[in-house]
Amino acid sequence: MQNDIENIRLAADILKNGGLVAFPTETVYGLGANALDSEAVKKIFIAKGRPQDNPLIVHIDSVEMMMPLVKGFDERAKALAERFWPGPLTIIMERSEAVPDTVSAGLSTVAIRMPSDEIARALISKAGIPVSAPSANLSGSPSPTSAKHVIDDLSGRVDMILNSHNCTVGVESTVISLAGEKPRLLRPGFVTVEELSEVIGEIEIDKAVYESISNDTVVNAPGMKYKHYAPKAKVVVIKSNFEKYKEFLSQNADEKTVAMCFAGEGKALSLPFVEFGEENNSKQQAIMLFDALRKVDELGAKTVYVRCPDCKGVGLAVTNRLFKAAGFEVIEL
Ligand code: TXA
Ligand code: MG
Repeated sequence: MQNDIENIRLAADILKNGGLVAFPTETVYGLGANALDSEAVKKIFIAKGRPQDNPLIVHIDSVEMMMPLVKGFDERAKALAERFWPGPLTIIMERSEAVPDTVSAGLSTVAIRMPSDEIARALISKAGIPVSAPSANLSGSPSPTSAKHVIDDLSGRVDMILNSHNCTVGVESTVISLAGEKPRLLRPGFVTVEELSEVIGEIEIDKAVYESISNDTVVNAPGMKYKHYAPKAKVVVIKSNFEKYKEFLSQNADEKTVAMCFAGEGKALSLPFVEFGEENNSKQQAIMLFDALRKVDELGAKTVYVRCPDCKGVGLAVTNRLFKAAGFEVIEL
């Protein structure tokens, strides 16, 4: 812990001086910069190779730190914050003049999150400034859930990497927008739609989320604009039971194919495999998902056929990330 305290002090100084620090959060590692310093924020986009039109989440340690950044904090936002902060929920609200355009990519809104991870909170508190942070991976590749993932992607491109524990949630925060008339889910995560609805009632699900899970027929979407979280291998999601999946592999796999399946299934297959949690345990799948996608590349795969998870609860987030990694290429058997 002494080591942690010293490193956090160093990292906080780097942030205050306009530098970049990668740090753990409960969801994924983040790449932080002073959210109030436009020049510092620009460095994030360069280090990640991130398109400038993709806005960043601002991380805070308290509602007090957030207040100067937003136009208002209405009853719905307060209720959500009370129930889910600190934790893996990001709330989009109208922003104030204090938020630089670079953070919000020119939008009138800002995304705010209060992480629960102890190191993340200590860092933000020590720096005493709001910290804008996307996931600390190279743009397009799987999000980082361990310090090793960050080092693999960003070593030499940032000022400091806080080499700490693995992330306990494993998928990025749930993103809900309160900027429109009705609350709208923009990205599913560990905080589920059902849990959000308990607090603020009906929630619209953004089309991008919904379409990604309602595709239950064969979808071939070449040139799909957004391909995210993807390993170098081509990802195809297989929606079927294990028997049919196994049969499909026996007919379609070659020596460059890797199977991505649930815990305990690999030994029944006759090709290299990576397992990502038990079939009926969405939380475990979330923790293991991004690491599994990276391992697929380490095995030298050209193609990976992935078992399709259940999409209830946290499974919605797991399915959403996988479908994106696959560029929405899903085969139903
Ligand atoms: O769990 C997380 O949220 C992690 C950790 C580091 O906190 N961060 C993260 O950031 O996932 P990033 O940049 O990879 O994803 C942020 C998402 C993007 O999809 C972005 O488009 C959306 O939030 N976003 C940010 N600001 C927004 C805004 N004002 N309006 C709509 N979407 C916004
Ligand atoms: Mg990201």
